[in-house]
Amino acid sequence: MDDDIIQIVPVLDLSNLSPSQLQQKIPICCSEWGVFQIINHGVPLALQTQIRDAARHFFSLPTEVQRELLQADPFSPLSVFTGLKNEGEFRNWKRTLGFKPNPYMNTNLLPCILREPFLNFREKVGSLAHGVAKEIFAGLQLNADLLSDIHTRRQTMTVNYYPPCPERNFTYGIRPHSDFGSITLLMQDEVKGLQIRKGGNWIDMNPRKDAFIVMIGDQIEILTNGMYKSVEHRVLTNRSIPRISIACFYAPAEDDVIGPLGKFMSKRTPLMYRAVKFGDYLNHGFSKPLNGKSNLMYSAIN
Ligand code: OGA
Ligand code: NI
Repeated sequence: MDDDIIQIVPVLDLSNLSPSQLQQKIPICCSEWGVFQIINHGVPLALQTQIRDAARHFFSLPTEVQRELLQADPFSPLSVFTGLKNEGEFRNWKRTLGFKPNPYMNTNLLPCILREPFLNFREKVGSLAHGVAKEIFAGLQLNADLLSDIHTRRQTMTVNYYPPCPERNFTYGIRPHSDFGSITLLMQDEVKGLQIRKGGNWIDMNPRKDAFIVMIGDQIEILTNGMYKSVEHRVLTNRSIPRISIACFYAPAEDDVIGPLGKFMSKRTPLMYRAVKFGDYLNHGFSKPLNGKSNLMYSAIN
């Protein structure tokens, strides 16, 4: 165990790296870490700050007001889970403002305080994610245009609020898991809590307000037959300071069937996963408490 070695999740400066440097670094990040950070990514810092402030403001309102702002409309594209959700014996100590997938995202229903900045943010982060996906697939010598389109078809976003928690040793902000889709772009505030797993170690994702964290999700692990790894991660609670994060999830459409591509199979790397409709994968994941990377067993061959 290399407990004493402090490891830092790689940071890629997109304004500074040539295309060939990127194509060299991204595969290492994806196969060894399943996660990296990007800075100078083109989303203005002022917009990142505005979004964090709007989110903080929203969650500082009384919960009845939060609900009123979101309206009691069954077709609302938004849902707020104001209760602290019980997942088996542990709770996820957080509240979430969730946006349903893109075709239904009628932003007119957004509370005023969130509407303008979120529209702008959603668009900018969406094109950033598409660009990042393209780099990831280009680095694998795959059809980057086609695959980046497929793997960003379904876009969802959650705004997470982690209240201070009195019983830190028994509860997670969010239980250990990997994300079910293809890639996630996550923005955090200045409060620690997010950790990623590498081998046997949990490593702190030290907050960087100017960065997006790019996480590889299960669909990319499946597509590459395990060559790229989805990253297991969790959020710890703390006793005194609330934490905000905004997670943008990119995935295939629910009808898309994702399985390993032929080029990732060989004698040394036999087939690990079967092809599964993404909607089925997602439903299976949502039907049980989060538990590390266990949802991949749904697609695993053995
Ligand atoms: C998630 C997640 C981490 C965070 O929503 O899937 O892992 O920092 N969030 O909020
Ligand atoms: Ni996650």
